[in-house]
Amino acid sequence: MTTWHPSISKRWFVAAIADKIGHKPLAVTVLGRPLVLMRLDSGIVAMEDRCPHRQVPLSAGRVTPTGIECAYHGWVFGADGRCKAVPGLAQGDCLPKVGARTIAVRELDGMVWVRLAAEGDAAPPEMVAKFLPDSRKFLNQLHWRGYIVDVIENFLDPLHTHTVHPGLVRKPDAPRSAVRVKLDITGEGFVVNYRDQAAQSGILFRLFESPRVSEKLHFAGAGSAQIEYVYANGSVIRITLHFTPETQDHTHVFTTMHVENRWAPRWAVRWLVYPFLHKVARQDERTLELQAMNQARFPGKRGVSTRLDIVRANLEKIWEQGEPLTDADAVPESVIYL
Ligand code: FES
Ligand SMILES: [Fe+2]
Repeated sequence: MTTWHPSISKRWFVAAIADKIGHKPLAVTVLGRPLVLMRLDSGIVAMEDRCPHRQVPLSAGRVTPTGIECAYHGWVFGADGRCKAVPGLAQGDCLPKVGARTIAVRELDGMVWVRLAAEGDAAPPEMVAKFLPDSRKFLNQLHWRGYIVDVIENFLDPLHTHTVHPGLVRKPDAPRSAVRVKLDITGEGFVVNYRDQAAQSGILFRLFESPRVSEKLHFAGAGSAQIEYVYANGSVIRITLHFTPETQDHTHVFTTMHVENRWAPRWAVRWLVYPFLHKVARQDERTLELQAMNQARFPGKRGVSTRLDIVRANLEKIWEQGEPLTDADAVPESVIYL
């Protein structure tokens, strides 16, 4: 059983892609908790994946328009988790008071979000709510071996691109250039701002990019990270990754790409951009797998950081200390060589 800082259960995490929830219940694990997702007449419902009668997983059951029917004795639980039917009881018999445990759930940007604690953050991060309608060009789900903080850090870390992604993000022999970088605290997390970033030299950028005005990394809630490119021609590309710990060493990664103010039909993104991003993701996945494997071989060893590891302390503060970030966690502007 995995233990997480209690504050983490108050945050929202993506549990599934909404389209995957049809007529069958879907079993998912979030923060080590088995859940079942289903679509009822009233909308998407999330429950603990456990029948209160004899503990059989509700995900083995059947979805009816009004509730989920357990696979064992057929008890039916409605959207509020209450027991609505017990086959075999006479009409007028009292139904058991104990119901299935419901979990807070939202459908947003094509994804199903859950919050395990009954009370906590009112909604998923603002960065998701503010997307323009129809700007999403793709949405997919990956499953990586790796500890959540390591996985998030990987996405937010530009320094490994030379070594892990040679040629894709940067030319293999591209010289490093001075970049000004700073980290500011926001209402929901933090933002890392890169200035004077030279145009990236890899094939990905030569094919798809135009001159950039800014490059920012946003982090919000406990698991949402977004790289935002704003271009001189007014277009904006946002690649967002929502990280959801399944267990202590496995992480779901839900990736979206939103494009505004430029020609980018879905098929073109799907067939031209996506294969490159997929290759980059595979390279990261392999690196994280090596890291996780070696953490298991050297348990208890903590890493050493330099000021280049600009997000690590804040991620650990959120995930391991359960502390809200304050302005004291900001990092003033300095020059690094990217
Ligand atoms: S175990 Fe679910 S109805 Fe008996
Ligand atoms: Fe990477």
